[in-house]
Amino acid sequence: MSKLKVAFQLNDKDVALSVDPNDTLLDVLRGQLNLTGTKKGCGKGECGACTVILDGEAVNACLIPIMKVMGRSVQTIEGIGDEKNLHPLQEAFIDKGAIQCGYCTPGMIMSSKALLDKTKSPTQSEIREAIAGNICRCTGYVKIEEAVQAAAEKMRDS
Ligand code: FES
Ligand code: FES
Repeated sequence: MSKLKVAFQLNDKDVALSVDPNDTLLDVLRGQLNLTGTKKGCGKGECGACTVILDGEAVNACLIPIMKVMGRSVQTIEGIGDEKNLHPLQEAFIDKGAIQCGYCTPGMIMSSKALLDKTKSPTQSEIREAIAGNICRCTGYVKIEEAVQAAAEKMRDS
């Protein structure tokens, strides 16, 4: 298959690259750009491990054909904080013990961030709804919901 050019914004920077048009956004993030914070679980839209934010909405990167990203804005876990400067959600997940194996965590955080970017004081049911597509096999969801509430509080106070 011949390659095609695609250009989009990734974590607030312009990127342009040649891609296999059959690839998904997830394939390109992990395989070509080495952004392996976005995880691959099921590969078919069922687990949420691959969640990124596309034009402000949480989406499953494994379901997005890369050519559909042309001209749009993608945010991944690498774009929201780093080890020295954690995002309030990342801090809260650690503080509340909402991480065990960590495989679901980047996706959980991106789904939660998409919520908090729009809703400063989410209800418990809004949080549940926001992370409904993200499966965690380790923690149960109570600590994750607490972490999202704690991050929302911190973001309101800052
Ligand atoms: S890897 Fe995309 S939803 Fe599971
Ligand atoms: S912490 Fe292991 S799947 Fe969620």
